[in-house]
Amino acid sequence: MFDFKYFTPTKVVFGKNTESKVADLIKEFGGKKILIHYGGGSVVRTGLLKRVTDTLDAAGISYVTLGGAVPNPHLGLVYEGIELCKKENVDFLLAVGGGSAIDSAKAIGYGVVNEGDVWDFYDYKRKAKGCLPLGVILTIAATGSEMSDSSVITKEEGLVKRGYSSDFCRPKFAIMNPELTMTLPDYQTACGCADIMMHTMERYFTNGGNMEITDALAEGLLRTVKKNALILVNDPKNYDARAEVMWAGSLAHNGITGCGNDGGDWMTHKLEHELGGLYDVAHGAGLAAIWGSWARYVYKNCLPRFKKFAINVMEVDPSGSDEEIALRGIEAMEDFYRKINMPTNLHELGIDPTDDELKEMAKKCAIGVGGEMGSAKVLNEEAMLAIYRASM
Ligand code: NZQ
Ligand code: ZN
Repeated sequence: MFDFKYFTPTKVVFGKNTESKVADLIKEFGGKKILIHYGGGSVVRTGLLKRVTDTLDAAGISYVTLGGAVPNPHLGLVYEGIELCKKENVDFLLAVGGGSAIDSAKAIGYGVVNEGDVWDFYDYKRKAKGCLPLGVILTIAATGSEMSDSSVITKEEGLVKRGYSSDFCRPKFAIMNPELTMTLPDYQTACGCADIMMHTMERYFTNGGNMEITDALAEGLLRTVKKNALILVNDPKNYDARAEVMWAGSLAHNGITGCGNDGGDWMTHKLEHELGGLYDVAHGAGLAAIWGSWARYVYKNCLPRFKKFAINVMEVDPSGSDEEIALRGIEAMEDFYRKINMPTNLHELGIDPTDDELKEMAKKCAIGVGGEMGSAKVLNEEAMLAIYRASM
């Protein structure tokens, strides 16, 4: 077990109709002039944005709005948001939507508070000294960005997708009403479940430091999401299942399932970020498409964890050798992906990259991680390419 820091400053307000509390929360955290940032329009169609602006109007809080954050959010809109905030003297950001709107808002927050080009942070050239305060009304359970310290942005030039993490961007509050997720397309619900599980699995498949309590939380979270994701396939309006998945999404990425370990593996995410940057695929689906190939490449180097996962999470037959059990667990996870209509390879994801394109992704991925990375098994560019090839 390693020493750790656990910092989750976000005030969570969870349940039906909680979005009606938004003005009170903004006032509590000192917001006077707000930028409401949202995505491609789902919050307009569902009427949520109107409800939010009505609430702010009634409370006398002034605001400007900026929509258009796309999945795999773009740097261009971030620059636009920074200019708007400076022009309008915005002092508080309100992201209404999913990970893309939240991450875009976090990047805007960095850009307003820090001098120079905000991309420098995502390019690992320098560190941010602060971020505008941010609140969230969450509409999709997936990334955990509503409590996390990270933000992932895509630079259009060269299609480079990179994440930047610092405690400055952890939201001040997160409003989570599971009912708001009921308008999601089934595909996005499933993508979210895949992402939530992966945030926990990235921290679970490690070779460094484990704690019984952390493992128990992680395994319980994984079993809960697995069970409720299957319920939502046939019953997407099931409030309790929506609520279980939504809270799991926050816990999966606020750090609690990583306490005591070495920080996690994270290579499935790094491999996916290249897919998201180049092909604009949905993040959760990209993770599902690559995970099986990653798992088969690394499991022998992390056998005790794969065995434990197979038995405690996938609940497979525990007889036979450790390798047999581990492989049974990987197969069971892939079966689960199929049951929630997630892809298990790149073709099913809807892309068929050429070998040269796979090489390009492996090269960019290796650059992005500074050469090599991983805890279950350390991967270099050659290993990354082998995993991409196996995922075809
Ligand atoms: O853009 P709109 O019109 O709102 O539509 C969105 C989008 O098309 C739609 N949607 C969201 N809520 C809805 C809804 N449609 C109907 N009803 C609702 N209630 O769903 C689509 C996906 O939304 P998006 O915000 O892109 O999804 P997600 O939350 O999965 O975010 C994905 C982004 O977050 C990054 C990913 O890489 C990706 O760029 N990540 C961020 C992390 C973080 N900040 O901690 C960690 C993750 O690992 C991840 O990398
Ligand atoms: Zn993720």
